[in-house]
Amino acid sequence: MGESNYRSGNDRRSLSDKRTSAYRRFRNLSISEKILNTCFLVAIGIGYLVALAHMYSTHQWHDGRPGLSIDDVMINYHGSPEQTRLGSAIKGVMASNLKYKSDQDVILEWIQNGAAEPEYNDHIAPILNRDCIVCHSPAVNPSLPNLTHYAGVTEVAHAGGVSFPSLLRVSHIHLFGIAFVLFFIGKLFILCDMNVTVKRVLVMIPFAAMLVDILSWFITKDVPKFAYVVVASGALMGVSMGLQILVSIYQMWFYSGDKILIPNEIKFTTRLSKLRQKAILNRSFEDTSLIP
Ligand code: HEC
Repeated sequence: MGESNYRSGNDRRSLSDKRTSAYRRFRNLSISEKILNTCFLVAIGIGYLVALAHMYSTHQWHDGRPGLSIDDVMINYHGSPEQTRLGSAIKGVMASNLKYKSDQDVILEWIQNGAAEPEYNDHIAPILNRDCIVCHSPAVNPSLPNLTHYAGVTEVAHAGGVSFPSLLRVSHIHLFGIAFVLFFIGKLFILCDMNVTVKRVLVMIPFAAMLVDILSWFITKDVPKFAYVVVASGALMGVSMGLQILVSIYQMWFYSGDKILIPNEIKFTTRLSKLRQKAILNRSFEDTSLIP
């Protein structure tokens, strides 16, 4: 439907409009379409800013300090030793049971480094056997965490962080929701006048960034340093999306674009002079089959 609709029935358009209408551009839109598009883009833009504010307020306190930092991101996905039951117990209610306060750091570091069995045998078991199993053994107190062997200890030494099921849930919501938003923003953005190669890349970037972002959530769960990729790809998605919105609004209202566009097919497949190319283009509006 689209193509023939806007090409026919509007004789008031300038000659340059007709020349370039082989592809649809913002200048081919009616004012009411422009208003609708602008309302949509502005609403999405504000929505994105509100999403940023929400992210800031829900995640800034993970590391106990105000402001969003890379640590907050790591703790959110990977967890932190203090978030484990063992970690919070030895920093809190169980701290007084430790004979030496320095053992607190030994245990926290062990949790941070993945709570592996060899280090448990070498460094952790001696501490727990000395200070904890008087109470924490099934024989004494079956309802308490069993700290007499490795299996029992790792049960309370799991690093927290987002659970796999909740990552899956957030991922699918993000993929569906954001793909929709990016699709509609991109659909409008391709009505801009600009170098086609640049445009083809720009229209792809936010999708690629979103995929990398979501993938890196899962990786950060195991590899905390990947939090940098989460932040970088998230920022890239935001910036590229914002750029599409701003350039689209600018071209919609403040750009007349009197340049003549020569479709690549004509430019590259023939060795005609510029004048000749334009002549072909002009004629081809009678025979639109010439224009891809
Ligand atoms: C005097 C007995 C006693 C000793 C010694 C003791 N605990 Fe506990 N521990 C308890 C009791 C009782 C609870 C359950 C009540 C509570 O959560 O405060 C508990 C709970 C815990 C929990 C579970 C907290 C939770 O998330 O529910 C952990 C982990 C723990 N202790 C670790 C330790 C470690 C590590 C040591 C050695 C440094 C230790 N405990 C020494 C009595 C003891």
